[in-house]
Amino acid sequence: MQDSKTKKRVLVVHYSQTGQLERVARSVATPLLNDDAVQLDFLPLKPREAFPFPWPFLRFINTFPESAHQVPCALDLQIEHLQSQYDLVILAYQVWYLAPSIPVSSFLQSDLAARLLADTPVVTVIACRNMWLQAQEKVKAHLHRLGANLVGNIVLVDAAGSVASFFATPLWVLTGRKGPHWFGLVPPAGVSERDVEGAQRFGEALRQRLTSAEALDIDVLKGLGAAPVNDKLILSEKIATRSFYLWGKLFLACGAPDSLMRKPLAALYTLFLLLMIVTVVPITAILKWLFSPLMKKRIAGQKAYYAGPSGD
Ligand SMILES: Cc1cc2nc3c(=O)[nH]c(=O)nc-3n(C[C@H](O)[C@H](O)[C@H](O)COP(=O)(O)O)c2cc1C
Repeated sequence: MQDSKTKKRVLVVHYSQTGQLERVARSVATPLLNDDAVQLDFLPLKPREAFPFPWPFLRFINTFPESAHQVPCALDLQIEHLQSQYDLVILAYQVWYLAPSIPVSSFLQSDLAARLLADTPVVTVIACRNMWLQAQEKVKAHLHRLGANLVGNIVLVDAAGSVASFFATPLWVLTGRKGPHWFGLVPPAGVSERDVEGAQRFGEALRQRLTSAEALDIDVLKGLGAAPVNDKLILSEKIATRSFYLWGKLFLACGAPDSLMRKPLAALYTLFLLLMIVTVVPITAILKWLFSPLMKKRIAGQKAYYAGPSGD
């Protein structure tokens, strides 16, 4: 048995509604859990007032302003078992409206995060539909402010692909059923079992670094396909983030999510979203297609930036 004082300490911070992200985080953690030289702790984030699952439709829409503006919620945290410092923190989060989910953004704004993450290597783990670039930018800004050291990013996205998951993922969170839906026209939502299992390779790379003399730095996950970037989503994410931000300001000015004014506004916003989807989305797709030969170098640069630090 390894002396507990010499063990490498790893903390997994996670929040998941269906348990999918928790399974991804546990898959990454498996090689660490099986190594006697590593002490592994888990910190589940529990909002004092639970978010619903499945989501009632208007509540789902009405959550975007607080998500986009990262308005924190109260968390009930069990912290008695935590160490004062860790050699690595694995932060597993799902994306809500191109931002980290509210429980995770709340954690990142807490005193506990300031204590646990300062001067500490962090690996982020994301499992979401497929739009995570702007959420990771927000998480990067928090980590920078907290003095944490982002050494890797692991991303798993829904297996159905961009178009099908546009229907499959909302149907999953609104009905609680993964699908298939509509007589098989909409395939099942979520990350594939193969990808969940395969995430152990990232944990193995982390374990090897932690238990060797090699530094735990930004090379740790390179070459493992940890963060594939879909460059077609870069522009759409930028436009949607701006829209969530501006509309979000209006919503927040009308009060809390349960205030009377917010419900009709949410219905109006749904119409606006639908209108955007049938107009702006195809127009930007055509523009991107027309200009992509001229933008190749710029897009490649952006792709490399968003794939960092782990690489595509
Ligand atoms: C309110 C809400 C907003 C979401 N927004 C996004 C998003 O902007 N981008 C994305 O890729 N997935 C989005 N998703 C999907 C989640 O990231 C995630 O895949 C899904 O909620 C299942 O997570 P879980 O199994 O860990 O609970 C959203 C889900 C919810 C509930």
